Amino acid sequence: MPFLLRFREHWVRPALFFGNNPISLAGGAVTTASGVIMIGYWVMELFGRPNDNPYLGIIFYLILPALFVLGLVLIPIGVYIRRKALLIAGKIPATYPKVDLNDRIFRHGLDIVLVATIVNLMIVSVASYRGASYMDSPQFCGQSCHVMHPEYTAYKISPHSHVDCVDCHIGSGAESYFAAKVDGSKQLFEVALHRYPTPIPSPVQNLRPARIICEGCHTPARFVGEKLLVKSSFADDEQNSETQTVLVLHLGGLDGLSHLTGIHGVHLGHIEYIATDTSRTSIPWVQRRNADGSDTVYAASALNGRMPQGDRRVMDCIDCHNRAAHTFVTAEEAINRAMADGAINATLPWIHKEGLTLLKASYSSQAEASAQIPAQLEAFYRTSDPAVLSAQADLVNKAGKELALLYSQNVFPGMKVTWGTHPNHIGHMSYPGCFRCHDGDHTAKDGTAIPQDCAVCHNLLAVDESKPKVLSDLGIQ
Ligand code: HEC
Ligand code: HEC
Ligand code: HEC
Ligand code: HEC
Ligand code: HEC
Repeated sequence: MPFLLRFREHWVRPALFFGNNPISLAGGAVTTASGVIMIGYWVMELFGRPNDNPYLGIIFYLILPALFVLGLVLIPIGVYIRRKALLIAGKIPATYPKVDLNDRIFRHGLDIVLVATIVNLMIVSVASYRGASYMDSPQFCGQSCHVMHPEYTAYKISPHSHVDCVDCHIGSGAESYFAAKVDGSKQLFEVALHRYPTPIPSPVQNLRPARIICEGCHTPARFVGEKLLVKSSFADDEQNSETQTVLVLHLGGLDGLSHLTGIHGVHLGHIEYIATDTSRTSIPWVQRRNADGSDTVYAASALNGRMPQGDRRVMDCIDCHNRAAHTFVTAEEAINRAMADGAINATLPWIHKEGLTLLKASYSSQAEASAQIPAQLEAFYRTSDPAVLSAQADLVNKAGKELALLYSQNVFPGMKVTWGTHPNHIGHMSYPGCFRCHDGDHTAKDGTAIPQDCAVCHNLLAVDESKPKVLSDLGIQ
């Protein structure tokens, strides 16, 4: 085999000669060790449960492959340095020390070097593929970096907890992939240097248009027509009196002529607006493109005919569903929902009032809150109503734990995320939401306003009623 022979004579012999230096040898050792550990881990993963510990991921998918490549790079560097040193000293031999090709063991050794090179190339390609897909995983995006703690926590309990972060945050195709990696590396440095904004601002200007992201999974033809919503709330009295609001939302969908109607139908594609703050809460200027190609501008009266400063944006899903994957609720919503679900028992006297007070108090960290909230709830009953504590200690205990959980899902003192930091643009009760535009104050030149009539968006079947009749008519209660 002439190729193998030439390879041995012209490459392997000098390589062995020059490679016999501490740097190259250390490189070889680092590469071999990390390669063996990585392959061991891959085999283990094949048979075991996938591990979602982000720190193991960083070690096995990022650090070990980096060490593996570093070792490979050290080998030629060592060779180069030794060769240069010998060249200067004039000590390069005319012929490299004879290696005896008749020696079977040595000949096999050389073949192993060739095979090892091929195997190394394979390991590097598998490792870089796995490293890249690991960097796309929610564990890496959300868990390896404490900065993402609020968004990851909310994501985990959202309807999108099985959608990868990158499906929404990064486009497909090589270009957006590399843009995201460059941006991500920059952010890693900023995190390392503690130079990141708290709270993290909305990245909405970097996202692809929502209709591309969201309609990949949600087709408008499947949008529901009318949607029934039932909301419970509890009062601050001793009995935590429960009332309910029942409404039918005109969500819309495709009509017989394939036109989208209702809330979903009227906003998509032809409405532009200018917001004057980063959370897009203040929207003084709205423009609608009409069917005949003309434009209608709806301006807030405070503008007095001026154009506001800010980027124009075409309204899409994210202008209403901005919190699709990261819903932070208000303290009132959190406790009302938990009590409606029974996670906090509504028969405990004063639990709504006291729970809300504890949720809204200020704590220095989540750890402090999860210790303080249950302890203070217990202290409350011990002083105000010891009979409750002795008869229903387990319910008080459970309520305390649930309140602490609600706090930990919504308030992140370290990232300056607290109740209300990230407004939710659906609805209009806790935040301006729909009323950012539908406030009756956005008027066109002809005097028509973006409508605020309650009936345009929903039928209110019951508002804050105790045991509303409509629910029993519907067979819900
Ligand atoms: C269903 C789509 C979707 C998924 C999945 C998703 N996000 Fe988001 N994310 C968004 C949208 C939309 C916003 C913009 C919110 C806004 O403008 O108010 C956002 C905002 C953010 C922000 C900015 C801070 C904030 O709360 O506005 C961070 C950080 C973030 N996401 C991280 C993540 C991480 C980490 C994951 C995965 C664990 C993830 N996202 C998964 C859609 C998504
Ligand atoms: C990769 C697929 C995927 C993408 C992309 C995606 N979603 Fe979803 N979405 C889902 C799934 C799955 C559910 C859960 C359905 C369920 O639990 O019934 C869901 C649920 C929802 C719900 C209903 C939530 C509820 O409370 O019932 C809304 C609203 C929603 N998505 C909006 C969006 C928006 C807005 C975007 C774009 C920012 C988006 N989705 C992107 C898959 C996706
Ligand atoms: C004008 C505001 C607005 C826009 C724009 C909008 N939605 Fe919605 N959407 C709503 C409201 C309001 C609801 C009902 C919320 C609720 O159930 O509490 C809803 C509900 C949904 C649901 C849940 C339906 C169900 O069965 O409960 C999905 C899925 C959804 N929207 C997807 C989208 C997608 C995808 C887009 C973009 C193509 C979009 N929406 C654009 C306001 C909007
Ligand atoms: C960025 C501004 C903006 C936001 C935010 C917004 N809308 Fe609209 N909406 C408009 C404009 C503009 C029209 C068109 C008015 C017209 O055609 O007369 C409209 C029309 C509508 C209509 C049809 C009205 C009719 O006369 O039939 C409904 C229903 C509606 N919006 C519901 C909602 C809901 C629900 C939300 C919140 C989830 C919302 N909108 C948020 C700008 C907005
Ligand atoms: C532009 C559309 C729009 C208009 C106009 C509108 N609403 Fe609503 N409203 C909504 C949406 C969307 C929700 C559902 C929010 C959600 O999904 O939680 C809602 C929810 C509600 C709720 C239940 C909220 C809760 O959390 O308990 C009440 C009460 C309500 N609206 C009252 C009114 C009244 C009264 C008017 C008339 C002055 C009005 N709304 C006008 C869109 C609108």
